[in-house]
Amino acid sequence: MLDTTRFGEMAVFSGNAHRAFAEAVGQHLEIPLGNCEVMEFSNENIFVRFHDNIRERDVFLIQPIVPPVNTRLMELLIMIDAAKRASAGRITAVIPYYAYGRSDKKDQPRVPITARLVANFLEVAGADRVLTVDLHAGQIQGFFNIPLDELTAFPLIADYFKSQNLTNPVVVATDVGGAKRAQNVAERLKTDIAIVDKRRSGNDEKAEAVTLIGDVKGRDCIIVDDEVLTGGTVASCIGLLRERGARSVRVACVHALFAPRAYQVLDNKDTDEMVFTDSVPLPAPWGTVPSHSISIAPLIGDAIQRIHTGGSVGELFR
Ligand code: R5P
Repeated sequence: MLDTTRFGEMAVFSGNAHRAFAEAVGQHLEIPLGNCEVMEFSNENIFVRFHDNIRERDVFLIQPIVPPVNTRLMELLIMIDAAKRASAGRITAVIPYYAYGRSDKKDQPRVPITARLVANFLEVAGADRVLTVDLHAGQIQGFFNIPLDELTAFPLIADYFKSQNLTNPVVVATDVGGAKRAQNVAERLKTDIAIVDKRRSGNDEKAEAVTLIGDVKGRDCIIVDDEVLTGGTVASCIGLLRERGARSVRVACVHALFAPRAYQVLDNKDTDEMVFTDSVPLPAPWGTVPSHSISIAPLIGDAIQRIHTGGSVGELFR
């Protein structure tokens, strides 16, 4: 493999969050994952030890921040600290799913901006760069004072739907904030968008699709969202789209978090297909609804290779 980097040889390690994904990235890069022990003592203190020499090497630590979120975050921070103290040449935190992204602004009195706090933690621990995928909101990029590359899986999702040759597709944003994302997918499918006016009244994770901007009658709707957690948002959108005469309704998200209650919430919803990526461990099989998973391991692998050799990451999306 060509190595033009000013850092040493590339070394890729996985925490405990999603080892299968890290292995798929390693396979794409044609290198084995490095040997790193990440374990917890009986007092819940986490211990990390790199069993490979990483002095001056270009180290990539793969860890989506998924449940148990605070444990996985702490593992990543301690891995970064251990790599720093082992004299790694450069440390990139590869975070396919960035938790706490929904806490990105002070939108109620006396609340934190936890997405910013997590960024601070990563920097203080010693990360030199971050590589991530579809943040909940673009402004989170600005919470970091170190370089951050944000990849997007939506072109892959759009290409999948293109291959399905839907008769009369329309891309549906689950809220006004998701309109740009829906537009990008719609452009690739050469179609238009509809926007759901979604409201949340409190902090109880309940979402209500109030009304719809756009026409979906007789059309094949593709709901796109960055993540599905409780399923409340998409369940409410599916109901509204059916009410407005949609012919079919598919749901696509990047981060399929699927909290246990999502299965109940989405049960019996009239869904034609669920499409998601492997940025987080894959959800349990989904009753009778057909599901399709798209791997973003090659995308992450290509980005790692480009970061390592000083290539353009942006060109991955041209
Ligand atoms: C919210 O703004 C996001 O884009 C998603 O719609 C939300 O995170 C989904 O959460 P849930 O599945 O719990 O409704």
